[in-house]
Formats: sequence, C-alpha cells, structure tokens
Amino acid sequence: MDGPEKLQLADLEQVGPGTPAGRYFRKFWQPIMRARDLPPGRPKPVEMLGEKFTIYRGEGGSAYVTAYRCPHRGTPLSLGWVEGDSLRCRYHGWRFEGDGQCVEQPNEDRPFCDRIQVRTYPSKEYAGLIFAYLGDDPAPPFRTIPDLDQPGVIVADPVEMLPCNYWNKFDNDHGHIPWVHRATGLRTGRDDILVLRQEVMQKTEFGMVSKRHVKGAKGDVGGALGAGKLSYFIMPNIRLFFGRTRAKGFEDSGLWDTKVVWMVPVHDQKFEAFDVTHTPIEGKEAEAYAEARYSQQEAEAEFRWDLAAKILDGEMSLDELPDYMGAYTSFAIEDYVTQVGMGPLAERSKENLAATDTKLAMLRRLWLDEVTALLDGRPTTDWKLPDEPLSEYGVKHYQFGS
Ligand code: FES
Ligand SMILES: [Fe+2]
Repeated sequence: MDGPEKLQLADLEQVGPGTPAGRYFRKFWQPIMRARDLPPGRPKPVEMLGEKFTIYRGEGGSAYVTAYRCPHRGTPLSLGWVEGDSLRCRYHGWRFEGDGQCVEQPNEDRPFCDRIQVRTYPSKEYAGLIFAYLGDDPAPPFRTIPDLDQPGVIVADPVEMLPCNYWNKFDNDHGHIPWVHRATGLRTGRDDILVLRQEVMQKTEFGMVSKRHVKGAKGDVGGALGAGKLSYFIMPNIRLFFGRTRAKGFEDSGLWDTKVVWMVPVHDQKFEAFDVTHTPIEGKEAEAYAEARYSQQEAEAEFRWDLAAKILDGEMSLDELPDYMGAYTSFAIEDYVTQVGMGPLAERSKENLAATDTKLAMLRRLWLDEVTALLDGRPTTDWKLPDEPLSEYGVKHYQFGS
C-alpha cells in the first residue's frame, strides 16, 4: 500500500484469514461463545472470522478451542466427545489432549501419535464469555475492561447473530435512536428516547468517545441522559455505554448499567454481538437481578428474530410489537431490521454522508489507517484503556465544552 487513500472501506468487508480486516481482527483476543452456552463434555462447532473451529469444555472446567477438523481424515472434531480434558474424534477414535497433542490412535499397529497434533488456540473466560486468540503467535496480553471489573453483577445476554456485514453495526450512530427506537419510546412512555441529540466525536488513546447533547442547549447539555451522555468505542470492535437498569422488577432502582458489546464477524455477511452488562449490585439482590434478566432475555430471544423477519417482509410493522415486550427485546428487533435491511453487504459507495455522520466517518478513518499500517508493515496503534473505569475517567476527561 502506498498510502491510506489506497485502501477502501469495501476492502475491510472481508474477514477471512489473510484478508486486510481479517488480519487486523486476528491481532486481538475476540469472544467466540457465551460461557453458559458451552456445557462441559459437549463439543461444538463455531465459526468466527470466516473460519471454523471446534470448541469444548473439559471435565476440569476449562474451555479449549481447536481446529475444526481432525488431522487424520478431516471429520469435524465437534462430532466427537470429551474424555477428561481431551477430545476423541468420532470417526476413528484418535484422541487429542487439550494442547492439541495426539495421544491415542486405536487399532494402529505402529501408532505415530507423537508426530500428530491438531492446532489449538489460546482461550480465556472473562465476563461471561469465552475468548480466543486466533492470530499468529505470540498472543498479546489479554485486555480486561475496568468497568466490568468493579463490584457488581455481570450478565452476558444471549448472543445476537445478524446476517449482514459487521460494518452495518459498526456504522450505527446515536442519531438513529429517536427514529429507529421511536416505537419503543412511544409504547413504553420513554420520552428520553425521542429527544433529538447531536453527537460529537473525539479520538482517544483507546479509540473514540462520543458526547451527546441537545443542539443549542446550555449548561449540562447531556440533560436527562446522565451517565449516558458519554459512550465509547474501544478499538477495534467494542462499544461501551451506559443505560438505566431496566430488568423486570428493577425499573425504578435508579441504577445505571454499563453495557459492553463486542461485535465480531462470523464471516463476511454475518456478525455476532456479545452483550455484557455490569450492574452495581451485590449479594442476594444481584442473584435476583441476574435471574430476572436472564429469564427475560432467554425467553424473548426465542422469538425476536422471527418477528424481525416478519417486519422486514412487511407482514407486520415495528409499531405493532406487543405491549408486554421488554424494551431490551424491541430495541434489538428495531436495530436488527434497520441494520440487516441495509443488505448483507451494504452498497456504501452509493451513500450520501451528511455532517451528522461524523461518528462513522471517524471510525472508518481509524480502521483504514490501522489496516493500512498493517499492510505496509508499519506498527499499528497500541490502543490503551485507562486503569480506572471509563464511567469515572470519562467524566473527568471528556467534559462537554472543554
Ligand atoms: S478422522 Fe478423526 S480419527 Fe479418523
Ligand atoms: Fe439502536
């Protein structure tokens, strides 16, 4: 590459091994599955960044990520079963330890286990998710999010899978809220959703911060948003923002959730959003909160994409979502139909970007600059999160009007 202008956004849509964005994503640990979706002893196939893998939890409790296929004859290892912390292939019974070493080849007169290994990938469980490092050795240090490490309760929502390119989600800005989420705002009496706000972006040492305010307002221009007037994008693919706790039974608690969302491409035309929420309550109340939130989320996750598909097909409208539906779920459906509706690979060359599109312009620039550096063999940015939670750091450092 001769310069940043050479690389186009369309060049970042592919995420497979060796592609520009695929190489950049693979420089970072990425969530690959929700921890509670992987019971011990039940291997599963998983696809991420245009590649398939096998994942299983050993009887010791640790999660292991391996190549998808058995190195013997290529059957999916996810068809096999777990023995202790090792995985046995269902086709001919070869057995692999958690580090990938083959240790058994039944019925072979002269086993050659020592020379056979299946590729494994470093994995780590954090914040209710299983992360894997899918890039070249060595793996970088694992990055934690200080906001999630505070006392409180963590809930990892059912993973959302959307059949469109990840940029459809990356490009989602705050300007959409009063429009996309209008029906939920009206149905639930949430006037705050309907207020038109402006978004001002600022580049930071970890990505960017967005400051929202009502155009022309004086004083505390975040208004009723409280902590929600600031939100963050942590490079390369994490959103962090705040919202009032609204799980059933906790609507009037006055608490604020911190929500962290990792957006990871499954392949070029599908991505997963891993939503983790931190709520500052502990003990028995925290257990009750987690229970309320999980049961609500899991129940509504069962049917929400069916409704989204009906809305996209014109069989029903967003204004017709049932009154009893929780705001979390109708928000998810509203975002789904607008983002998926743009098409699996949106035609970005036909866009007409306006002055209010600053967020996506800045994010695209950050990504294009980073990937260009990578392709040029120059160092990429070492994105650094502050040691203290962004909920505190941001208020000190990103005041409006400063
Ligand atoms: S294909 Fe796995 S043991 Fe033969
Ligand atoms: Fe939204």
